[in-house]
Amino acid sequence: TRELRVPATGLVVLVGVSGSGKSHFARRHFRPTQVVSSDFCRAAVSDDENDQAATGDAFELLHHIVRTRLRRGLLTVVDATNVQPRSREALLAVARHQDALACAIVLDVPEHVAVERNAARPDRDLPSHVVPRQRRELRRGLKALHREFKRVHVLTGVDEIDAAVLVPER
Ligand code: GTP
Ligand code: MG
Repeated sequence: TRELRVPATGLVVLVGVSGSGKSHFARRHFRPTQVVSSDFCRAAVSDDENDQAATGDAFELLHHIVRTRLRRGLLTVVDATNVQPRSREALLAVARHQDALACAIVLDVPEHVAVERNAARPDRDLPSHVVPRQRRELRRGLKALHREFKRVHVLTGVDEIDAAVLVPER
C-alpha cells in the first residue's frame, strides 16, 4: 500500500487525462457528497454531460460549490482533468481565499490505458487527439504543479493507483 496524506477539511484536486480513472478513484476513496465533478456541473447546467458550450457555466458552478464547501470546513474533492495550470489556478485561488489546505493527486496512466478505457465507455466519444494533448499539458505542467500545491502525490501506473490508501490529516 501507499499512504497518501490529504487535508481532512481542505481541497483535494485530482489531476489526470480523460480515462485515467479520476471518477473511479473518487468513488473508491470519498463519499459522493465530498466529490464535485465537472461532468456533474456540466449536466446540471445543460442536461448534457458532453455539452462543451456549457463549460463556462459548469465551472462557475463547480467553483461556487467548492467555495461554499471549503467555507463550511468540508473536505472537497475536485473531479475534473485539471491538466491545465489555468484550471488549477482558479481552484487554488478559491482555497487560498478560504484559508484551506490544498493537495493534488495526479493519476498518471500510460496513454494506451486511458485510450482503451475511453473506447469502452458508452458515455465518452472523444476525438483521438484529446488524450495525447492532455498528456502533453500534464507533462509540461508537472514541475509547476509541485510549486502550486503544498502537497502533491503522483501515482504512476495502474498498480500504484490501486495501492493508494488515503490518510486524512488535521
Ligand atoms: P474523465 O471523466 O473522462 O476525465 O475520465 P476519468 O479520469 O474520470 O476516468 P473514469 O474514472 O471514468 O475511468 C474510465 C474508465 O476506466 C471507467 O469505465 C472505469 O470503470 C475504468 N477504470 C477506472 N479506474 C480503473 C481501475 O483502477 N481499474 C480498472 N480495471 N478500471 C478502471
Ligand atoms: Mg470522470
